[in-house]
Amino acid sequence: MSEFPAIIGGQGDLAGFMSDNKAAVDAALDDAGTLLFRGFDVPDAQAFDAAVTGYGEAGFTYEESLSNAVRVNVTERVFTANEAPPETAIHLHHEMAQTPLYPSKLFFYCEIAPEEGGATPVCRSDWLLEKMEQADPALVARFAEHGVRYTNVMPASDDAGSGQGRSWRSTLGAADRMGAEARLRELGYAWEWQVDDSLRATTPTLPAIRTLPDGRRTFFNQLIAAFRGWSDSRNEAHKSVTFGDGSPITGEDMAQTIALSDELTRDVAWQAGDVALLDNYLVMHGRRPFAGKRRVLASLIA
Ligand code: FE2
Repeated sequence: MSEFPAIIGGQGDLAGFMSDNKAAVDAALDDAGTLLFRGFDVPDAQAFDAAVTGYGEAGFTYEESLSNAVRVNVTERVFTANEAPPETAIHLHHEMAQTPLYPSKLFFYCEIAPEEGGATPVCRSDWLLEKMEQADPALVARFAEHGVRYTNVMPASDDAGSGQGRSWRSTLGAADRMGAEARLRELGYAWEWQVDDSLRATTPTLPAIRTLPDGRRTFFNQLIAAFRGWSDSRNEAHKSVTFGDGSPITGEDMAQTIALSDELTRDVAWQAGDVALLDNYLVMHGRRPFAGKRRVLASLIA
């Protein structure tokens, strides 16, 4: 097994390092799935933005995305990772795998290291799928055959108290119900308006397993996060996700997978100035609860 996550030590300007070493960085990322750049001079969000720009690939913007997290832009390419409260754990997920639009890679940057907790757990999703196939091949076959559908209730206005509190207006880039419905139709969603003006939306069937160009298969979905944490005032985990044919996925189905993912999870324990690069197709990430100050910023690659 490769070193995971792989640490790339260095010093000085990370933007220059990224542009000078793009091919080597990409090869290392393909191998490890997560790279941690440590020791470089990345003092603030602007320097992080420069490093991402130095890497040289197009960004995936929050405005266009269907992400349900509440976020705030810091620079054009950089935003706060998640506005959910410190005591809320963000469970393992592939970024935006619960929607048809997702980034291929993610950058994180630690501006202020947490005093307590606050690591970013990462888990190789190809390794997880291998373990799942050994433990329960029939379950993996069901995921492969049927895919999954996700249901989410989006509030009328942003709810920063939830890990998935982004409003339907913001999520769908719509001013009113008609605009929202046009966007949902275009994306193949089913929907239902609720009495409090929140919106219950269900995705078309999305694959639960992804095959990468080199043949590696990953558990590319949002099931672990859904079964561990998707409950707030509007959503219940077990109703939030089903197989593509509408049949239920049970807590029992997921218990072993969750246990296996815990065994494979490693923490990125942040130091100020750290930058991490994740392959979103290969690696799941989350956020441990924390106490005190913590500022981790993110930037997504299309
Ligand atoms: Fe995320």
